[in-house]
This record gives sequence, C-alpha cells and structure tokens, in this order.
Amino acid sequence: MAYYYRLGSIPPKRHTQFRQPDGSLYKEELVSSKGFSGIYSNLYHIYNPNEVKSIGQSKPFKWQVADQHGLNQTHLKTSGVEFTGEDYLDARRMLMMNNDVMMGICSPKKRKMDYYFKNADGDELLYIHDGEGVMYSQFGKLELRKGDYIVIPRTTIYRLEFKEEGPLRLLVIESHGPIETVKRYRNEVGQLLEHSPYCERDIRPPHELHIEKEKGDYLVQIKKQGMLHHYSYNHSPLDIVGWDGYLYPYALSIYDFEPITGRIHQPPPVHQTFQAWGFVICSFVPRLFDYHPLAIPAPYNHSNIDSDEVLYYAEGEFMSRKGIDRGSFTIHMGGLPHGPHPGTVEKSIGAKSTEEYAVMLDTFKPLQITTDALEFVDKNYPMSWSE
Ligand SMILES: [Fe+2]
Repeated sequence: MAYYYRLGSIPPKRHTQFRQPDGSLYKEELVSSKGFSGIYSNLYHIYNPNEVKSIGQSKPFKWQVADQHGLNQTHLKTSGVEFTGEDYLDARRMLMMNNDVMMGICSPKKRKMDYYFKNADGDELLYIHDGEGVMYSQFGKLELRKGDYIVIPRTTIYRLEFKEEGPLRLLVIESHGPIETVKRYRNEVGQLLEHSPYCERDIRPPHELHIEKEKGDYLVQIKKQGMLHHYSYNHSPLDIVGWDGYLYPYALSIYDFEPITGRIHQPPPVHQTFQAWGFVICSFVPRLFDYHPLAIPAPYNHSNIDSDEVLYYAEGEFMSRKGIDRGSFTIHMGGLPHGPHPGTVEKSIGAKSTEEYAVMLDTFKPLQITTDALEFVDKNYPMSWSE
C-alpha cells in the first residue's frame, strides 16, 4: 500500500516487550513481503498464531483450462446467473486464467461466512458489483459498498458478511504478484501525484479493530498451490489488539475514480487503476467525451499485439458494443483485431458524455477461459461485426 497506517495498541518501539493486562506478552507477528524488502506490517496477537489444534483434509481448489476454445473473440454472458454456489469459496467461479492472474464471479447463496479464508497463493481484488457488507480481518473492520474495489494482500485472514437483502455479485481477481497503485502516479516516496485519477483521501483502510477474544472452534481455510487446506484453532485468528505498517487491505470506490479526458480519444492507460505482475486493471467511468470539433468518441479498431483485453460491463450502456449486458465479459485476444460494432462509430459522433462503468483487465500474456466459463460463451459473438 502507498501509505503508513496504524490501528489499536502497539508498543512505542518494535520488537520490545508489550504486555497484556495479565502480565503475559502479546505475540508479535511481522507480515512481510518480498522477503524483508517489500511492504510489511507488525501485528500484535493475544494468542500464539502458530498454535494449531488440528489440520483437516486438503482438497483441490483450482480451475481447468478449456483448451479447445481456440482463438475466438469471446463474450461470456453471465448476467442471468443468480447464484454461483452455496458459500463464498464454493461460489467462486474463475472464468479465465493464466500464470499471472485469474478472474471470475462469485454470487454465494449464503451471505455470511462461518469460517475464515486466507489466500496464500496471491493478492485478491474484489469488485463489489452488487451487495453491501463488512469485511472482518486481522486488520480490522472494512465496510464493503457497491462499486468498491477491495484489495486484499496475500495471507490476510478474513471473513465476509453481506446484508441479506438485494442481489450479491462479486468480481474476483486473484493475482500472483502484488496488486499496487500505479507507479507512474506515485512520487519517489510513494505519495500519489496531482495527475493521479485518485489519491490517498479516496483510499479506505479498515476503520476500526475487530477483536475476537473468546476461545472456541475456529476454522481457517487456506488456499495454497491450488489446494484448500483446513486449519482449526482454539482461538480466533482475529485476536489482534494493534498493528501498524504499509501492508493491509483497503477499499477504493470506482465512484471516486476521476476520469482523464482529452480533445481526441484517450487510450486505455488513462483509465488505469491498479498494476500487478503481468496485468493492469482499468476503470471506465462516466465522463465527458472528446471535444475536438471532428472527434470520434468511439474507440478505433485495435490490434494489441502483446495483450489479451477483458472488459467486465458493470453499469450503463456501452457505446461501442451491441448485445452486451450488465455482467457480460468480453475477451478480445491478441492475434485478432477488435473494434466498435458496426454503426456505433457514426452513432458516437456528436455525443457529449457517457454513463458507463466497466472494469478492464489487460494481460501481458495470453489468457485462457476455464471449463467453468463454457456455459456462458455467446457463440454468435465472433461473427457479431458482420453488417
Ligand atoms: Fe483494445
């Protein structure tokens, strides 16, 4: 993360005696990245974080590539899905993947998790398309609102609770590398610069601690190397009385992303919101269109020779596409050009603004759809540019 933050009680000096009311020591845990060279936080536990009660059976938690899908411009029509599974993990359906990133959907029937989850394989980025709730983690309580990106650093132990009313729909991204703010928008000490589309005021870290002191049965499901491991403890992993550092989960609302516009069509990098290893995440938000007197607001045809480009359509009418619903994914693969649907270029001329919201994933290596995605494939899409 881009700035230092602290919550709760911590001793004035790190790695020194810090005592509980009964005189025993709090248990310090350093959570560090890139060995000791990356961002880190220091956490203070009531109980010993290594004290495991039992280890259950591990089970596979991975997705299969649909290797017969071939080279196709792809539209996944997922808008009709109400539920993708019973609970948060069971409902996680990754639809596309490569070695750097996986992306999918999650609409669980059960709104409250009765276990904790820790992803030890990668950072997670949740986009709250529909739903409202709270994330309880070792770092405290974080409100989840519609339109939020939630960045969850690897090994964060958390539990989600969503309100029962209304639809619940999450976009889930798992990244092999850390998910970070965009480097070209940061100065040499990490502060977001004046031309960044968002700044520190838009970033919401956990706002208060959530300490679970009661002893009992606590299950943590840990994803590691494509397996789900089951660890039981007789204390809650949310036993942190204080922490400080740069490593913590946070929220950034797509509604706080300030668009960059120009006299002629601006390229997707102006929409970039996050960076990671091998991919970027961009946000398309309501904005004024290009204001050159002869401007064409619709995008041009494009051959991105190194990337596969995925758009997830969140809200509004997407001006360059036909037959796309809220909740659709399009995957435009490197190796083929892609561009606006017939008629949409002419239609865009003279338009002043758009109300669209979309999340884009651009990968630097080829993506493949998973077998879970096959049921959503719109077979007519590759031919949809025919007049
Ligand atoms: Fe493109």
